Amino acid sequence: MLNLEQVRRALEAAGQSHILQFWPELGEEQRDRFLLELSQVDLAGLKEHCEGAAGAAASGSSRLDLPLEPVPPESIGSMKRSDSRSLAEWQNEGLLQISKNRVGVLLLAGGQGTRLGVQYPKGMYNVGLPSGKSLYQIQAERLRKIQELSDRKYGSKCTIPWYIMTSEFTLAPTEKFFNENNFFGLEPSNIIMFEQRMIPAVTFDGKVILQSKGKMAMAPDGNGGLYQALVDNEVLEDMKTRGVEYLHVYCVDNILVKMADPVFIGFCVSKGADCGAKVVEKTYPAEPVGVVCRVQGVSQVVEYSEILPETAELRGPEGELVYSAGNICNHFFTRAFLQEVAEKYEGQLKQHVAIKKVPFVDSCGNQVKPSKPNGIKMERFVFDVFPFSRSFVVFEVVREDEFSPLKNADGAAKDSPTTARNALLAQHRRWATAAGATLLDEHGNALPSPASVSAGDAPPAQFEISSLVSYFGEGLEDILKEKMLPTPFILEERNAKDLHAQQQIPAQ
Ligand code: UD1
Repeated sequence: MLNLEQVRRALEAAGQSHILQFWPELGEEQRDRFLLELSQVDLAGLKEHCEGAAGAAASGSSRLDLPLEPVPPESIGSMKRSDSRSLAEWQNEGLLQISKNRVGVLLLAGGQGTRLGVQYPKGMYNVGLPSGKSLYQIQAERLRKIQELSDRKYGSKCTIPWYIMTSEFTLAPTEKFFNENNFFGLEPSNIIMFEQRMIPAVTFDGKVILQSKGKMAMAPDGNGGLYQALVDNEVLEDMKTRGVEYLHVYCVDNILVKMADPVFIGFCVSKGADCGAKVVEKTYPAEPVGVVCRVQGVSQVVEYSEILPETAELRGPEGELVYSAGNICNHFFTRAFLQEVAEKYEGQLKQHVAIKKVPFVDSCGNQVKPSKPNGIKMERFVFDVFPFSRSFVVFEVVREDEFSPLKNADGAAKDSPTTARNALLAQHRRWATAAGATLLDEHGNALPSPASVSAGDAPPAQFEISSLVSYFGEGLEDILKEKMLPTPFILEERNAKDLHAQQQIPAQ
C-alpha cells in the first residue's frame, strides 16, 4: 500500500489533487480505506485516463460512420441452415473436447445490473420458475449435465472449470451465494472466481468524481476488462495447468444459455477458429443487441449504442434487415488467442464512452444526486478483440432455443423476469410435447399443443424440466412418452426415475 505522501505526489502530477480535499476531515478508518483504494488505482495512468475520457466525451457522437458489410457466408454455421450431419459431427467434436478436459466456461458477471435495479448480483436472481431456481443454479446444473453427457459418450470422467469474472460489487455476494448453496453440486476447486479492475468516473472537464469525502466514484472497466483481469489473476496459467484449450465466454443474464455448448465448440474447433460468436437474427432495427459484421474487411461487433440508426434500419429485397446478426454475448476463444491478446493487444483495445448520472460530493462537501448526466465512465467491450482474430467464425442459433436475456425489471415489455421465465417454460413445454407427453391443466383437461398457442399468449404451462434431467431436450422420450402430466409439474432427477421405471413396465 502507498503512503499519503506518495499518493499526494502522484495525484498532483495527474492534476487530480482535489481528490484529497477532504482528507483532514476523515477519521482513521476512512483514511486507511481511502489510501487502499487509491493504491489500487493505476495512478501513473490517471492523467491519461482523465484526459482521454474528457476528450472522448467532448468529441461527440460515438456512432460508427463507416460502411459495414455482413459476415461472409462461408464463416457462418447455423442451427437453422446447416445440414443435420454437420450439426451432429460438430456436437460429437464438442463432446469429445469436453471429455478430454479441454473446454472451460467463463462467465462475465462483473456488471452492476443497473437496468434490473437489484442490489445483488444478477446471477442470484430468481425469475419465478416453479422450482425457484436462480440463474446461477440453472447454469451450474447445465454444466453438470453436459459433463455427464460427455462422460457417457466417451467413457471419461471430465471437468469443465467454471471461471467467473466478478467486480468489487459482485465478488463477495457471489462467493457467499455459491457457498450457501453448496456450489450447486459442483466441485468448489473447479469454480474460479476473480475480480476485474475498477476505474474512476470522470467529470466533463477531466476531474475524478468523489462519491463521498473519502471515496472515488468507481465503476468496473466494462466486460472487456476481462483481458486485463485474465492477466492480473493468472487465469490463463490456470487454464494451461488444467489443459483447457477452448473457452466458452458468456454473459450472466441469458436464461437459455447453453453452457459449454458442444455444437458451438465443435463447430469452432472444426473450422480451426481462434475466435467465434453466436448470433440470433435481430427482430427489429433498434433491438439492443450488437451487430456482428465486418468494417473495412475486419470482423467486429458494432454495439447497439454505436450503430447509426439509418444503418440499423437498412433492409434487403425481401424486407429482411441487412445487418441482422445480433450478438448474444456467447463467444468462443482458444487459449492461444487469449494469450496473444494478453501479450500484444490488450493495450490497444478501444475505450467506449458511457455518459451517466454519477452521485457526487461537491467542493463544499454536500452530497449531490444529479438530475442530469454529469460523469463519464469508460468501458472496454469483450468483443473488441475480434479484429485481432486470424480465423473468426459466426454461429447462428434459434432465438427461442438460446436467447432470452434478463435486462429490465418487470413492467418492461422486453427482456424482463416474466419474458425470461416464459421463454424457459415454453421451451420445456416444446420438449415435453416432442417427447410424447400430454400436459393437463388444473381441471385435468389437455392443454393445447404449443404449435396452436401463439407466442404472445400468457401464462405458459407451469412445466419445468431440471437441467440435470435434460440439457437440450435429449433423453426425454424414455421418461415422458404417452404420459399425461398435471401442471404445475417439475421434472427432476427423482421423479424422472420413477416415470422412466413406469415406462419399462409393459402394458397389461
Ligand atoms: C451485451 C453485449 C451486446 C449484446 C447483448 C446481448 C457487450 C459489450 N455488449 O450488451 O452486444 O447484444 O449483451 O444480451 O458485451 N459485465 C462485466 N463487467 C462489466 C460490465 C458488464 O462482467 O464491467 C458483464 C455483465 O455482468 C453481463 C455482460 O457483461 O453478464 C453483458 O453486460 P450488459 O451490460 O448486460 O451488456 P448489454 O448492454 O446488454
